[in-house]
Amino acid sequence: MDKILLHVGPTTIKEDVLIAGLENNIGFTSKEFVEAFSYVLKGLRYVMGVSKNYQPFIIPGGGTSAMESITSLLKPGDKVLIVSNGVFGDRWEQIFKRYPVNVKVLRPSPGYYVKPEEVEEAVRKENYKLVTLTHVETSTGVREPIKDVVNNIRKYVELIVVDGVSSVGAEEVKAEDWNVDVYLSASQKALGAPAGLGLLVLSPKAIATLESQDSIAGYYLNLKNWLPVMRSMEEGKAAYFATPPVHVILQLAEALKLIEKEGIENRVKRHSVVAGAIRAGLEALGLEIVARKPESYSNTVTGVVLKVAEPQKVLSETVNEGVEFAPGVHPAFKYFRIGHMGWVTPNDAVVAISVIERVLRKLGEPIKFGEGVKAVQESLSSAR
Ligand SMILES: Cc1ncc(COP(=O)(O)O)c(C=O)c1O
Repeated sequence: MDKILLHVGPTTIKEDVLIAGLENNIGFTSKEFVEAFSYVLKGLRYVMGVSKNYQPFIIPGGGTSAMESITSLLKPGDKVLIVSNGVFGDRWEQIFKRYPVNVKVLRPSPGYYVKPEEVEEAVRKENYKLVTLTHVETSTGVREPIKDVVNNIRKYVELIVVDGVSSVGAEEVKAEDWNVDVYLSASQKALGAPAGLGLLVLSPKAIATLESQDSIAGYYLNLKNWLPVMRSMEEGKAAYFATPPVHVILQLAEALKLIEKEGIENRVKRHSVVAGAIRAGLEALGLEIVARKPESYSNTVTGVVLKVAEPQKVLSETVNEGVEFAPGVHPAFKYFRIGHMGWVTPNDAVVAISVIERVLRKLGEPIKFGEGVKAVQESLSSAR
């Protein structure tokens, strides 16, 4: 049976995107590669909602390398505020703990999000050089209202960094209008390309900070070392700092072509329709969702709380039924996650809920059997 992948990344990769990486004898200085690189840089501006004022970066690694590269904007002793709604917000703390900076973390109760007023209160009390936010916290599926938070704190902090690993390509992202200094992501989630790339856009202020100082960053993830490569490649001139993941960049270029063809607004809408239908199905079954506040439901990830069934058993049974979901990673909940991002379709919502209904009934979870798929259908037909 062909498997449907409703995971939190890597997500389904379209054949055209996979095939774009099957390019033989392509050097990193070749015309084809420089063109693809330059195309991806421009595409990042498109999906992250910024103009030419912002400088895009493509670096090897993924979300975590993009996160750690933020040390390029910090000096010893700088104060950093981390707004963490879960495991990936906490990752910022793990990273910065390795460096000579002062870190404070703001956390809500599990499943909730830190409110804009709460972030404002924290930055009024103390002078922070940099604040990190997570647009969609993948461990809980909770979305932070970035625009509102930035509105509240802009005048108190120098640099605002947003982790958009689980939002770019699926949520509305307007990094420039929202006045965000760094918006970062990775290739393997809602952009629907293979894993391997950390992606960032930096505001003029972030670039000025980067260029003006000796930061605490190391060598490989120091954006100052990558900056000349980005500038040169965009002008069509090959440049080298360290070998780029050539084939993944070719694949991301293809994914971005497909995204532009679909149109980013249409893409966000599609994600919202599918996510809404999946949640309608879960709620009709009587299941609880990890994200506690409806305004924080995301377009990309939904955590499903289990009362009786063991999450590992649910995952293995659903794989046997042809759908792969993701395990839960937040210690406060007994749950599994549905990743609904990338190339998901409304039909995937029907299949997901149908499989969940059958498997949970078999495993003795109290559900209103038969109500889930019906609610998905209602949700999908009213969304049209
Ligand atoms: C919100 C968020 N940030 C950061 C990361 C880390 O990205 P990566 O695993 O690509 O290093 C992830 C990974 O799932 C994530 O979901």
